[in-house]
Amino acid sequence: MRVNRLQLANYRNLSPIVLEPGPRVNVIWGENAQGKTNLLEAIWLFTGGKSFRGSRDSELVAFGETESSLIMDFNAQDRDQQASLSIRSHRSASLNGIPLNSASQLAGRFCGIVFSPAHLTLVKGGPEERRRFLDAAYCQLRPGYLKSLAEYNRALAQRNTLLKNLRSCRDTSGTGELLDVWDQRLAQSGCRLIQARLRYISKLGPAAAEIYRGLSGGREELVLDYQSVLPEPVGEEMPASQIASLLYRAIRDARDADLAAGFTTIGPHREDMKVSIAGLSARMFGSQGQQRSAVLALKMAEATLLREVTGEQPVALLDDVMSELDQSRQDYILNHIGDWQVFVTCCDPDALRRLAGGREFHMKQGRLI
Ligand SMILES: Nc1ncnc2c1ncn2[C@@H]1O[C@H](COP(=O)(O)OP(=O)(O)OP(=O)(O)O)[C@@H](O)[C@H]1O
Ligand SMILES: [Mg+2]
Repeated sequence: MRVNRLQLANYRNLSPIVLEPGPRVNVIWGENAQGKTNLLEAIWLFTGGKSFRGSRDSELVAFGETESSLIMDFNAQDRDQQASLSIRSHRSASLNGIPLNSASQLAGRFCGIVFSPAHLTLVKGGPEERRRFLDAAYCQLRPGYLKSLAEYNRALAQRNTLLKNLRSCRDTSGTGELLDVWDQRLAQSGCRLIQARLRYISKLGPAAAEIYRGLSGGREELVLDYQSVLPEPVGEEMPASQIASLLYRAIRDARDADLAAGFTTIGPHREDMKVSIAGLSARMFGSQGQQRSAVLALKMAEATLLREVTGEQPVALLDDVMSELDQSRQDYILNHIGDWQVFVTCCDPDALRRLAGGREFHMKQGRLI
């Protein structure tokens, strides 16, 4: 996957811009508020995703204008392609001259991963951040997983409604039978989530560890562990039926607690992935640089796994990744990240002195100079 050319008009603060990046590392540098993140965001939109800043489509259009136009020439599936986006209150897209029903249909045609400082919550934040990452990453590999997630969430919502109703009603006769149906359903759908996450982490772990080793110059080891709610250890080879019966047991054991709480206290919606560096929890004890490096390693490992399945290496969009990293970690990002196309933004022009190959672009007041 490679961006050959990007042309933007009326996009955020960017003047009509043409970017012709190189095949490896591209550094976009400049002072604050010049448009560096805006440029990465524009590339990201071609993955079919929403803005990684959480902006609405209408906010992407340059102030005072009615429509943005973005055209990207890229290489994917061994051929040169062109995608275009036009943005008003919402986006419309076309690929190789053919209009798409929605911009999200670009997903899978152009692939990227993005790191922005907001993603530090992946290590620093609560378990839901890591579950969301795992589930979204696995969905990219196996789109059918979305259905399993929806089934589990539906069963969970219905069981929670029942628990809430039972808590407020005095007549508890028949409670067991009613709940039993939902316990079974939760275990049946939940086992697929546990199995998927176990499989994903078993691949993500070694890939992230290797990248982290590169970042830290081999001085620290990163380890990922799935923290399951099951009463016994499980492995990625375990059949779904066995995981389902363990999960059913865990849910049954928690029934009194669930009835008292009025919601489901145990299940895949309560699991976590522990990220350890040099044997310590990165969330609790990691330094700023370690946490940043860990998030970067997770994101890049996600891209590595995507390449294994799709055969295409996604482009990496690394926004403001360099700050808080020491020189050797910066050097790894700039010069040893491997043979894929990377876009890095930074404020400090000193970092460029360490750039051995690659290209640099100076962003000033929405212009590349
Ligand atoms: N729709 C828009 N139209 C015009 N300007 C906009 C629009 N949306 C955002 N901007 C402006 O774009 C400017 C540059 O934003 P951007 O986040 O890309 O800066 P940056 O170079 O990444 O800065 P930093 O180094 O601080 O991260 C902001 O000051 C913002 O006011
Ligand atoms: Mg920025």
